[in-house]
Amino acid sequence: MGPWVLRARTGPGAGELVGSGGCSLYTSGTTTVWNTAFVLRPQAWGQGYAQEVTAAGRRCAHALHPDLPVIAVVAAGNPRSRRAVERTGLRTVCRGPDAKDPDPTAELLLYADRGLSEDQVRALTA
Ligand SMILES: CC(C)(COP(=O)(O)OP(=O)(O)OC[C@H]1O[C@@H](n2cnc3c(N)ncnc32)[C@H](O)[C@@H]1OP(=O)(O)O)[C@@H](O)C(=O)NCCC(=O)NCCS
Repeated sequence: MGPWVLRARTGPGAGELVGSGGCSLYTSGTTTVWNTAFVLRPQAWGQGYAQEVTAAGRRCAHALHPDLPVIAVVAAGNPRSRRAVERTGLRTVCRGPDAKDPDPTAELLLYADRGLSEDQVRALTA
């Protein structure tokens, strides 16, 4: 299962692209998780679409592999994304440097729906 394309179902913009998101299988080393991600067109912000697609993604993830953790990785400096992820009910597992950001002060937050082992955290933040 991968991310889904979101289109408005009703209203004046019915059928128009809203964004994409959901839960996708992600493997790093021996760790496999359901990764939650979403990106919406700015005009679609503030309507709960990220919540809707995450809830649908988690229902499918749970039906397919309930044994796998559901996670999200978010830039600490992106408060809107953090709020959206926290609203889905995921909890912060760890916070650390963002190795891919040229800004040495940039940090990433790892969220999950359950506790993760040290090996899982290392694999997901490498
Ligand atoms: C991150 C991002 C998806 C969040 O979008 P969003 O619309 O704020 O997300 P949500 O689905 O959580 O919407 C919640 C907002 O909708 C409102 N809302 C309206 N109807 C709602 C409903 N039926 N259910 C839930 N929330 C609803 C909430 O009150 C809240 O508004 P507020 O932010 O003014 O408090 C969006 O900002 C984005 O695409 N950013 C760029 C990409 C990005 O950073 N992605 C994250 C990587 S994981």
